[in-house]
Amino acid sequence: MSVKILMVCLGNICRSPLAEGILASKLPKDKFFVDSAGTGNWHVGKKPDERSIATARKNGLDISTQKAKHFTSKDFDTYDYIFVMDNSNYDDVTFLAKNEEQKSKVRLILDELFPGDNVDVPDPYYGLQNGFDMVYEMLDEATDLLAKKLIENHS
Ligand code: 4NP
Repeated sequence: MSVKILMVCLGNICRSPLAEGILASKLPKDKFFVDSAGTGNWHVGKKPDERSIATARKNGLDISTQKAKHFTSKDFDTYDYIFVMDNSNYDDVTFLAKNEEQKSKVRLILDELFPGDNVDVPDPYYGLQNGFDMVYEMLDEATDLLAKKLIENHS
């Protein structure tokens, strides 16, 4: 049985597809399954934003085959860990939790780097390419620590 991890943002086309691709590249595939979803449903079925695809490609990752999904309360049963990109995602996801156990699966991804500081991965959708590069750097640093912890906790 693999450990299942879900990355969540608003549209599931900018930040969480990058988070999925980056974390998956740091974990052994036989033990871990990484996926992503959005709290909004506007982009369901679409591939990631071209700027996220390009940012990943520059860093040696192909995220172009991902398809946007909508986060639902069933995801609490499927996934062991749910990492959200910002505080608004945190509120939207935890609102759907049925109990404390489900709620406790949800964490801000940047808590890995800045525990307890409630730092957001900024939404790059309406900005320029450098916003996507910044998102990549933040997620790369956070997932370095996260991957190490996950491997330690599940070996
Ligand atoms: P994401 O970025 O949450 O990082 O995927 C967004 C993508 C699309 C929209 C908002 C944020 N949108 O409003 O369509």
